[in-house]
Amino acid sequence: MEWAKLHSRARFNLATSGISNYSLADLPVALRDLEISGPSLYGYAPLIEAIAAKHDVPPAAVVAATGTSGSNHLAMAALIQPGDEVLIETPTYELIVSTALYLGARVRRFGRIFENGFRLDPEQVERNINNSTRLVVVTNLHNPSGAYTGESTLREIGELARRRGARVLVDEVYLDAAFDLAPRTSFHLGEHFVITSSLTKVYGLSGLRCGWILACPELARRMWRLNDLFGVIPAHLAELVSVLALQNLEKIASRTRAILDANTSLLNKMLQGNPHLSTIPSRQGTVAFPRLDHGNVDDLCDLLRQKYDTTVVPGRFFGLRDHFRIGIGGETEIVAEGLSRLSAAIQEMN
Ligand SMILES: Cc1ncc(COP(=O)(O)O)c(C=O)c1O
Repeated sequence: MEWAKLHSRARFNLATSGISNYSLADLPVALRDLEISGPSLYGYAPLIEAIAAKHDVPPAAVVAATGTSGSNHLAMAALIQPGDEVLIETPTYELIVSTALYLGARVRRFGRIFENGFRLDPEQVERNINNSTRLVVVTNLHNPSGAYTGESTLREIGELARRRGARVLVDEVYLDAAFDLAPRTSFHLGEHFVITSSLTKVYGLSGLRCGWILACPELARRMWRLNDLFGVIPAHLAELVSVLALQNLEKIASRTRAILDANTSLLNKMLQGNPHLSTIPSRQGTVAFPRLDHGNVDDLCDLLRQKYDTTVVPGRFFGLRDHFRIGIGGETEIVAEGLSRLSAAIQEMN
């Protein structure tokens, strides 16, 4: 995260995994609609109801939190006791692992294999889960590859966990970017599923920090109480604008879709035409995670940044040193130029 905050900036930034910022000016909001303080105790009712309606779940199953980051922390804090075993996919978003470690979990990893398209494989879970496992954590869409996991696979993994008294935490922060599949949240797969998500990545609304957990009501109540240790009460201005954003989500999503449709085909053209990269074609989402077949990824990233004013995320942050992550959520001209500079840098190295 420190690298992302301090070292990923560049004119052609392909290091971010989110869609470029949506502007307040594009929301139908007037200053008179806003207020600084409001009735947010265990949730601001209009926001909770809007999130519940989005996912077709009861409001009592929704817990609001600060982004998906805050949601992951709160959910894990409610689910993990120090010493518990937590089974986490690899590669994954690094903060999921460090949050579990911070909470005192014993972390065990199971692999998603590049050669299998980073597919989530229940066999890998079965091989690594045991009676001490309290929680299995996955991302859908997968960060860093963008791979999608369907309901039947998640159901299988859920069953493996449920039989051992464990839960499955699915981080769905990128799921709404799978437009063609229009998947529903895996909260609907059973009470042993806990979901985290937010408006940040897919909708370009990171600054609102509007995140949430979906959990069965008894667990949700426990999380609300635990949140009194972390945030107590959220910023009401952000809650009001988040409600407006949720009311206008279709319009915001159509902007995202237009960006991703254009940028995914640019990305695939670049990946397929490059003899120095191995990859799976990108079908959905905001990121891809190709392998550099010749040369050192850290050298490539240095060259790219210094000479080409372009950044991607080195694979070492995901535990795979010969890969790097490309984010395509930026404006199309920026992404097109960034991809062309990336090709030039790879060419120069080989
Ligand atoms: C899998 C995953 N979860 C959560 C986050 C953080 O999301 P948010 O900005 O909603 O806190 C990220 C950010 O990159 C992510 O990749």
